Amino acid sequence: MKPPVKNPIREYDVKDMGLAQTGKQRIEWAYRSMGVLKQVEKDFNRRKPLKGLRIGACLHVTTETANLMRVLKVGGADVALAASNPLSTQDDVAAALVKYFDVPTFSIKGEDTKTYYKHIFSVLEIKPMITMDDGADLVSTIHTKKRNLLRNVIGGTEETTTGVIRLRSMAKEKKLAYPIISVNDAYTKHLFDNRYGTGQSTIDGILRATNRLMAGSVFVVCGYGWCGRGVAMRAKGMGARVIITEVDPVRALEAAMDGYYVMSIREASKIGDIFVTVTGDTTVISKNEFLNMKDGAIVANSGHFNVELDLETLRSISRNHREVREFVEEYRLANGRAVYVLADGRLVNLSAAEGHPSSVMDMSFANQALSVAYLKTNASRLEKTVYPVPENIDKNIAVIKLKTLGIEIDSLTPRQKAYLASWKSGT
Ligand code: ADE
Repeated sequence: MKPPVKNPIREYDVKDMGLAQTGKQRIEWAYRSMGVLKQVEKDFNRRKPLKGLRIGACLHVTTETANLMRVLKVGGADVALAASNPLSTQDDVAAALVKYFDVPTFSIKGEDTKTYYKHIFSVLEIKPMITMDDGADLVSTIHTKKRNLLRNVIGGTEETTTGVIRLRSMAKEKKLAYPIISVNDAYTKHLFDNRYGTGQSTIDGILRATNRLMAGSVFVVCGYGWCGRGVAMRAKGMGARVIITEVDPVRALEAAMDGYYVMSIREASKIGDIFVTVTGDTTVISKNEFLNMKDGAIVANSGHFNVELDLETLRSISRNHREVREFVEEYRLANGRAVYVLADGRLVNLSAAEGHPSSVMDMSFANQALSVAYLKTNASRLEKTVYPVPENIDKNIAVIKLKTLGIEIDSLTPRQKAYLASWKSGT
């Protein structure tokens, strides 16, 4: 790994610097599965396309994110990093970033909301020219509480569906002060990260937290977007009887034809053993659903914010609650039944497990790195709105990923190209 570039911010706030060595080893292990990012690193090392750029990042502090930070620095950027969720930080990685990779990192697993925002403010000390966000908390903070810093910013990137929805609202209200690239909308991001990443890591989080048997369980997935599709697919693969709840008629139909039971949350709440919300919306499971649940039902969220499970109401209808296992809180309802909430309703895949596997984050973070390089050259030509990742970047990531997986594909013959271009040949 390359020696780090010196960073202008010297402070950091992590749990325990004694964890740094373990973190370094885990970061190196993750990098073994990040073949696309390795190619980007090679290219960045040669061209230094990010020279002089200051990047403020608010991402889940994981082994994969650490590798992205490293590669951005190889490209010539200065970076500072805060967590994008109070429970997703891997403390050993945060320590390693500070000790071995000279990345000022501000994140501690389990930090309260005040500390979470204090850490975002610390990252803003870098006076970012690029914001790199996962959920848009950094962007919203700079737009509302640090407007004086907006003049430095040339552009930003956003990692996740929820963040993109927030940014599109800002752009629609003409409140967005600089162009942002929606990494989430790249095919090589959402088709793989949202589906296979969330699919595997959500099940991983639930199993690490509960050690429950999936086979034969009634598994309710609320939301059939790319994340919901992935979670449902993996639960089915492990033998669960999967129910989908949806509000979108086309998605509901798709779920039915994909072979799932589809019903209202009201009906599903009476029969589910395990519930997972992945809708991106608020109060998906609330009072009536909690009251309907069987004794011992397990409830988790894998959507970005902890608003999908109405825990405030759950507390109000519970006699008491207590931790019964790490990441498992038992709520004893007034009707005598127990409901088990995982990871306090926060992202279960990043809180109780390690988030998406490296091989899938490889493509997401290659999109991030290459989008930043694109912004450096093109930001001045862009409007203050949300843009997709340029198609050539997206396609090229797929080409490299296939290569790293040892998969060869066909290409069109001249005759096939001509056929596709012509409208004359029919029956
Ligand atoms: N989001 C989901 N999984 C992640 C991971 N492993 N690293 C960073 N962000 C993530």
